Amino acid sequence: MAGKLSVHIRGNADDLARSACEQLTEVLTDAIDKRGTGSLVLSGGQTPRRVYQLLASPSFHERLDWKSVHLYFGDERMVPPDHPDSNFGMAKHELISHVPVPDTHVHRMRGELPPEDAANEYAAELESIYKKEAPRFDCVMLGIGEDGHTASLFPGTSALRERKQWVSAVFVPRLNAWRLTLTLPVVNNARQVMFLAEGEKKASIVRKVIHAGTPTEELPATLIHPERGELHWMLDTEAAALLSPSRG
Ligand code: 6PG
Repeated sequence: MAGKLSVHIRGNADDLARSACEQLTEVLTDAIDKRGTGSLVLSGGQTPRRVYQLLASPSFHERLDWKSVHLYFGDERMVPPDHPDSNFGMAKHELISHVPVPDTHVHRMRGELPPEDAANEYAAELESIYKKEAPRFDCVMLGIGEDGHTASLFPGTSALRERKQWVSAVFVPRLNAWRLTLTLPVVNNARQVMFLAEGEKKASIVRKVIHAGTPTEELPATLIHPERGELHWMLDTEAAALLSPSRG
């Protein structure tokens, strides 16, 4: 049985970022109090940039026990960490280099490797930490593309059907590029999944996904249902503009 769905509509992009930081701080602090560590999977793309900047700012920086936080990545492009397209590179620039998270707690997908090697290496790193149990992250941050992709789970790709491997290397025809991505068994095992979407361009896809009656591979974000966790949509008013009042 999938966990509960919550939709949070929070003013403009700055209000959204602040609300997301409040929630991230709460879920990670609760995890650290209960289990000694907090595990956060960072999203790629541009939407989380504001969240990372705010999380690294004095108003939030001191509120988290960063030495007890582990940072992971939901997906990565096949580029080196210093490449402008690197999800790790953006997170490092905006967040990681500004907070005292131990280097050994930053679990980077090595996009500079051949795709399959990078996927196998990341899966092995997860297995070294979580052993044979699928990782149960405290929070997985996700963005959403206008085609309904999330992480690098794109419509029509093989990664959508992966139920054993925790990490997939996937060729995305639309991008003519390889990507690395956590797979659904891992994302859906999280204690909390947090979608972040802002701006009017996302309003249509947000409505399609949240209002979707049944999960469909045509809209990969509809396949995200943490079985034993919470699903949160954090939206600014523009991204939420097409939601019916009952969902807002
Ligand atoms: C990536 C992401 C991807 C992203 C969406 C939204 O590596 O690009 O993981 O799933 O979250 O494409 O991207 P924006 O936030 O830039 O709109």
